[in-house]
Amino acid sequence: MKFALLKEAADDESRVALVPETVGRLSRNHIISVQTGAGVAAGFTDEAYAGVGAEVAADVASALNDADVLPLVGAPHQDAISALEPGAVVVGMLQARANPDLLDSLAKQGVTTFSMELIPRIARAQRADVLSSQASLAGYKAVLMAADTMGKFLPMMMTAAGTIPPARVLILGAGVAGLQAIATARRLGAVVEAFDVRSVVKEQVESLGAKFVESDSGDAQEAGGYARELTEEDQERQRQLIAEHAATSDAVITTAQIPNRPAPLLLTEAAVEGMRPGSVIVDLAAESGGNCALTRAGETVNRNGVLILGPRNVPSSMPYHASQMFSRNLAALFELIVGDDGITLDFSDEVVRKSCVTHGGRVVLDDQDSLLPEAKSEGTANG
Ligand code: NAI
Repeated sequence: MKFALLKEAADDESRVALVPETVGRLSRNHIISVQTGAGVAAGFTDEAYAGVGAEVAADVASALNDADVLPLVGAPHQDAISALEPGAVVVGMLQARANPDLLDSLAKQGVTTFSMELIPRIARAQRADVLSSQASLAGYKAVLMAADTMGKFLPMMMTAAGTIPPARVLILGAGVAGLQAIATARRLGAVVEAFDVRSVVKEQVESLGAKFVESDSGDAQEAGGYARELTEEDQERQRQLIAEHAATSDAVITTAQIPNRPAPLLLTEAAVEGMRPGSVIVDLAAESGGNCALTRAGETVNRNGVLILGPRNVPSSMPYHASQMFSRNLAALFELIVGDDGITLDFSDEVVRKSCVTHGGRVVLDDQDSLLPEAKSEGTANG
């Protein structure tokens, strides 16, 4: 089979879907055609790919010619879609729910598409979990952004010029990104507090050396392990509690998300105004509406000397390791869908079925059970 590795279509994307480590393993059984320069922004040269058995293609068209598999980080250009043969497989973090036009176009081309962010978060699929791998990078980087923006040390410093107390960092949301942010801020010597509506994370927060901020709203974890949306009254109490802790923090890193909903508002304008000038907020939820009322995605806002950073696509700012982790996640999915002789689509496997968004000329995002072998045979019996 032939895999085509292209330079990512989005201007602000530095990651590449496959790194030479993965390409080296795939090239034992398959042809890997790499568009020249595809990995350069992430630190992977054409020579590195050629050295592990890939062919370097001069342009997109020759990389895609007769390709069976197109691995991607994000959405491809329409030209790339149009160049695919029906039956080819496209895999990437396509944000399928937010991109209906993209799905229509992929379905029209007759390709089978897997959107990595939909892979069920079950133990067996952890190695393919792009949400976790990329969120973990973002949590780490958010602390470095805060440290770089603050005019203060994070650790306690005992110097001839006197003792400087450690910075205080507040982390809102202690999921994958938040826990990594806690660990990073602790490693840098800050005093760390963290808050989450899922009280089950208290133990994890404390095991990383941070203090868990207790709320009296009770636990808000749903069956799938994610948070549910709080009542308006609980949200109000929570914002009050957060404002009190933010007022004594030098940096606040916000990571709170609710699946398929806008990010919850945790830091109000009044809470920001209650913070000390020189403090920093890094809002990792900026792209889904922000956890802070003043966040503007892709910009830095200054409110009375408090800087509010709303970075976009944080994993792309660490493209080497972000690509390496993403590539390993993809390789784990390939173990399920790529055989030595061709594509094997076992839709009775929920990891394969629930991440599939187009197949057989249709968008199946909201109709994945129709992919089950039983559904197919019923369909045939009914004509
Ligand atoms: P996420 O990105 O959806 O949310 C981040 C955090 O924000 C979560 O901890 C959530 O509880 C918190 N949050 C939501 N609303 C909030 C509010 N109003 N105030 C404060 N915090 C709020 O979630 P993420 O980080 O992707 O994963 C969350 C959980 O999913 C994990 O902790 C775990 O339980 C589960 N998970 C399971 C995996 C597996 O089994 N393979 C892999 C990764 C995560």
